[in-house]
Amino acid sequence: MGRGVPDELSEERGARNSQAGSPGSAEAVGVRAATAQSAFIRACRREPVPHTPVWFMRQAGRALPEYRKLREGVPMLTSCTIPEMVAEITLQPVRRYGVDAAIYFSDIVVPLKAIGIDLDIKPGVGPVIEKPFRTEADLERLRVPTPDDLSFITEAVRILTAELGPTPLIGFGGAPFTLASYLIEGGPSRSYEQTKAMMYGAPQLFAALLDRLADITAAFLSVQLSAGASAVQLFDSWAGALAPVDYRTHVMPASAKVLAAVAHFGAPRLHFGVGTGELLALMGEAGADVVGVDWRVPLDEAARRIGPGKAVQGNLDPAVVFAPWEAVAAATRRVLRDADGLEGHVFNLGHGVGPQTDPDVLARIVELVHEVSAR
Ligand code: CP3
Repeated sequence: MGRGVPDELSEERGARNSQAGSPGSAEAVGVRAATAQSAFIRACRREPVPHTPVWFMRQAGRALPEYRKLREGVPMLTSCTIPEMVAEITLQPVRRYGVDAAIYFSDIVVPLKAIGIDLDIKPGVGPVIEKPFRTEADLERLRVPTPDDLSFITEAVRILTAELGPTPLIGFGGAPFTLASYLIEGGPSRSYEQTKAMMYGAPQLFAALLDRLADITAAFLSVQLSAGASAVQLFDSWAGALAPVDYRTHVMPASAKVLAAVAHFGAPRLHFGVGTGELLALMGEAGADVVGVDWRVPLDEAARRIGPGKAVQGNLDPAVVFAPWEAVAAATRRVLRDADGLEGHVFNLGHGVGPQTDPDVLARIVELVHEVSAR
């Protein structure tokens, strides 16, 4: 822990960003100046790029031996509150893969933990909470965190932006629906039965819960942006469980509130969920600049559904990495072909990096994307 970034990183960075151009421009208000002309930020803004930028959801984590070593004996939620450890884990995949952006190492439930909700992240399971949310009275347990509650984030982001130089840092938070699903179910779920029971049976309580979670996530994102994150991604990982009409009625208002609350930072806002083929237009309409797409919908079709004025992110099947390299390369090229001619494309997986993924395959994907898309 607390190791500095080795010199190779700075050198690599220098090389990779040599065409990055002048730092900071007038229209880039709110985005850390050194990152404003990076390929990632430019693609989010649908501006021309020297190559398609690439990063991976869950790029930090168990696929990396250096992560497993650092985390030994430190519980997940504890590691998220130690600024030096957060910074080191965030930087590991940047060094290893040469990705065009870092994502802040934390978890969507960290702001809930910070306000005293009794929850834990169980290895191989995910977030579990002691007393699930079911009634009006439970709302009292949810206060909005202050910057003081989240001071470890401010410190970690400061360390990171100094180390990252021209590489943008992506902040993130959980969308109200996805957070609510953990609070109501008490843990991960396949069918969201209790969550939907509240949505249909007690719509006012459900709306009040999502509205409060919107304020909590907005606070979490604002702390990251204020400290120097250059973009934010709102993860509504489980929104794909909803029919469009229910998404629009019961979920979209709260997600739109989060995205509107951080609009003044002027940083690109990305919005992603799994299995959201039928929700893509609505997820854009909620206020995103970039809509994340899983592997089920080709990017040209996704862009058609989303409509003009938004960039797209995605969408290599995260399981493709287990196939022989030729198949991985073909699938990577296909994603780039599908995105050819779109207004803005950020290359990513269609969901997170799996723990069994071979890091060398991810490094080769980054290299291939940069090579094939160079213009
Ligand atoms: O992307 C990154 O590299 C940044 C780190 C990150 C984590 N969680 C770290 C983490 C991000 C962006 C998240 C977001 C998150 N957390 C989401 C949305 C993204 C998605 O994948 O859909 C969700 C749904 C969660 C909730 C959560 N936390 C789950 C489902 C799990 C996995 C449980 C498991 O062990 O398989 C976690 C734990 C978690 N969050 C880990 C990491 C690296 C694994 C914990 C460990 O290493 O011990």
